[in-house]
Amino acid sequence: MSDLANSLSDLERRFAGAAAHAADTRELDAARVAFLGRSGEVTLLRRSIGQLPASERPDAGKVINAAVERMESVFERESARIANLAFEAELSREIDVTFPSIEPAAGTIHPIRRVLRDACAYFERRGFAVVLGPEVEPDYYNFDALNIPPTHPAREGFDSFFITDTLLLRPHTSPMQIRTMQQHAPPIAVVAPGRCYRRDAVDARHLFQFNQVEGLLVAEGIHFGHLKGMLTGLCRELFGSDQRVRFRPSFFPFTEPSAEVDTTCPKCKASGEPCNMCGGSGWIELGGSGMVHPNVLREVGYDPDVYTGWAFGFGIERLGLTRYDIDDIRRFVDSDPDFLKQLA
Ligand code: DAH
Repeated sequence: MSDLANSLSDLERRFAGAAAHAADTRELDAARVAFLGRSGEVTLLRRSIGQLPASERPDAGKVINAAVERMESVFERESARIANLAFEAELSREIDVTFPSIEPAAGTIHPIRRVLRDACAYFERRGFAVVLGPEVEPDYYNFDALNIPPTHPAREGFDSFFITDTLLLRPHTSPMQIRTMQQHAPPIAVVAPGRCYRRDAVDARHLFQFNQVEGLLVAEGIHFGHLKGMLTGLCRELFGSDQRVRFRPSFFPFTEPSAEVDTTCPKCKASGEPCNMCGGSGWIELGGSGMVHPNVLREVGYDPDVYTGWAFGFGIERLGLTRYDIDDIRRFVDSDPDFLKQLA
C-alpha cells in the first residue's frame, strides 16, 4: 500500500510540475493525456490494483480516486492561469491607432437605376415632370384608352400577366400617358419611368420584369421635329455627343405616324467592322415613338384639332446593355457584387 502511495505522490508531483510549466492549452492538455488519459500513468497504476490481495483493493481504489481529484483541481487551476495569460497578452498588445482602417464595403447605385435617373434628369432639365403610376392596371389604361380595342391584334403582342379578366401587370408604361392627361389640362410634358411585366421567356435579351421610360409632350403646334430633336439629345447625353439617331417608320396603335428609334452603335460607331453589340448593322434599337394618335387625345378630352403631341417608350435595360457594353440582360438582375462594382 505504501508503494502505491509513493508512486501516486511521485506521479502527482510530476503532473503538477508539467502542468505548471505548460505555456498554453495544448501543452496542458498533453500533460493531462500523459497522466490521466486512457493509457496515461494513473490508468496504468489503477490496472495494477488487480494484483493486490482482494481485501486491499477497495482502499487502493479510494486512494487513487482521491489523487485523481487533486490532479484534476491542479488541471483546473492551471487552465485558469493559461486563460489569464492569453487575456493579459491580448491586453498588453500595442494598438497602432494611426493604422488606416478597413474601408467598409459601400453599396453602389444599380446601373439600371442610374440609366433611369440620367434619362429622367435629361428631361427634367428641359421642364418635364417625372410621374409614377401603378404597376397593376385595368385593361382600360393598358389598351382601350390607347386605341387598342378588345379585338385588336396588338393586345396579343403584349403577352401580359393577367390578375383578373380585366386587371393586369402593366406590359408597358404607356398607361401613364392616359393617367396624366386625364388629370391635367394641356400643355403637359412628363416622363414616366417604371417597372413593366411581360410573359417572356428569360434569355440574354429578355426579362419578364423590366423597366421602361415613357415620355409625353402635348401642346399646341407640336410636331415630329420636336420629337426627333429631343430623342437625339437624349441619345447624345447617354451615349456620347457623336451619336446619330434614326427614325424607322413603324406601327403603334396609339401613335400616328409611328417610328422605331435607333441610335448608332456606341461600340463599333457604325464602322462596318464585325460587332457583337449591333451584329454589324451599326444601329441599336431603343424603342418606339410617334405622334399621339387623335383617338387617344379624344379619349382624354383633348381636342386633336388644337393640340398635338409626341410620345415615346424606351426599354431601360436595353439602354443599359448599350451604355455599358453588356451582352446578357440577366447580368442586371443576378446581383453579382463584382459585376455591379465594375460598373460603379
Ligand atoms: N409602349 C410601347 C411598347 O412598350 C412603346 C411605345 C411606342 C411607347 C410608341 C410610346 C410610343 O409612347 O409612342 O412597346
